[in-house]
Amino acid sequence: MKDEIHSYIESLIKERDPLFKEMEQFAIQHNVPIMELAGIEVLLQLLNMQRPARILEIGTAIGYSAMRMAAALPEAEIVTIERDNERYEQAVLNISKSEYQHQINILKGDALEIVNEVKDFGSFDAIFIDAAKGQYMRFFELYTPFLSKNGYVYTDNVLFKGLVVNDHIENKRIRNLVKKIKSYNEWIMNHEQYSTTIIPVGDGLAISRKQN
Ligand SMILES: C[S@@+](CC[C@H](N)C(=O)[O-])C[C@H]1O[C@@H](n2cnc3c(N)ncnc32)[C@H](O)[C@@H]1O
Repeated sequence: MKDEIHSYIESLIKERDPLFKEMEQFAIQHNVPIMELAGIEVLLQLLNMQRPARILEIGTAIGYSAMRMAAALPEAEIVTIERDNERYEQAVLNISKSEYQHQINILKGDALEIVNEVKDFGSFDAIFIDAAKGQYMRFFELYTPFLSKNGYVYTDNVLFKGLVVNDHIENKRIRNLVKKIKSYNEWIMNHEQYSTTIIPVGDGLAISRKQN
C-alpha cells in the first residue's frame, strides 16, 4: 500500500491502552517485530466478526498480539508459542502483569517440535501464523489438523514489505525467503480445502477459511 495511505490509516487509529503503547515503544527500542498497527486492527476486527472461543498463535514475540487479541475478545482463550528465550521471558512478564493472564497460555519451544504439547489443548477456531516466514507451509500443515470445523487461519507478512513483487533482490537470504513466501501464497490460494483472500494491509494478511 502507498506509504501516504498507510500513514493516513494509522493516523485515524484510536489511541491504545497505555500498556499496549508501552509495548509498542518497547518493540521499537528493542527491535522486536510485532504486528503493524493497521494489520492488527484488521485482524482484531476479523476475529471480532468470527468470535473464536480458542485461538492458537504461532510466534508470540513479547506477547503484544496475544494480549491485544485477549483484550478484544474477553471470552477467548489463547495458546501462543515462542521459541526465543529472551522474548518468551519478556512475554511471560508482560502477560503476568496484565489482566489477560487467565486468558493466555504461553508455550516455550519451537512450533515445529511441540505439536504434541499443543495437541493437549484440543481444537482451535482460529490459528494465527506469525513466526519464521520460511516455515509457513509447515506450520499450516502441522497445526490445521487442530482447526475446528468452521475455523480460520490468519497468516501475517505474506507480502513481506512488498518484496513479493520485486524481481531484483540482491540479498540471497532475503531472496530465498521471498521465494518461500511466494510459494506459500500460491499454495494456499490453490488449496482445495481452504478458501483464501490476501489483504494488502500491514505486511500483508492472508485469511483462509476451512471449507466443509
Ligand atoms: C513477528 S514475531 C511475532 C510477533 C507477535 N505475533 C506480535 O505481533 O506481537 C515472530 C516471532 O516468532 C518467533 N518464532 C519464529 N519461528 C518460530 C518457531 N518455529 N517456533 C516458535 N516461535 C518462532 C520469533 O522468535 C519471533 O519472536
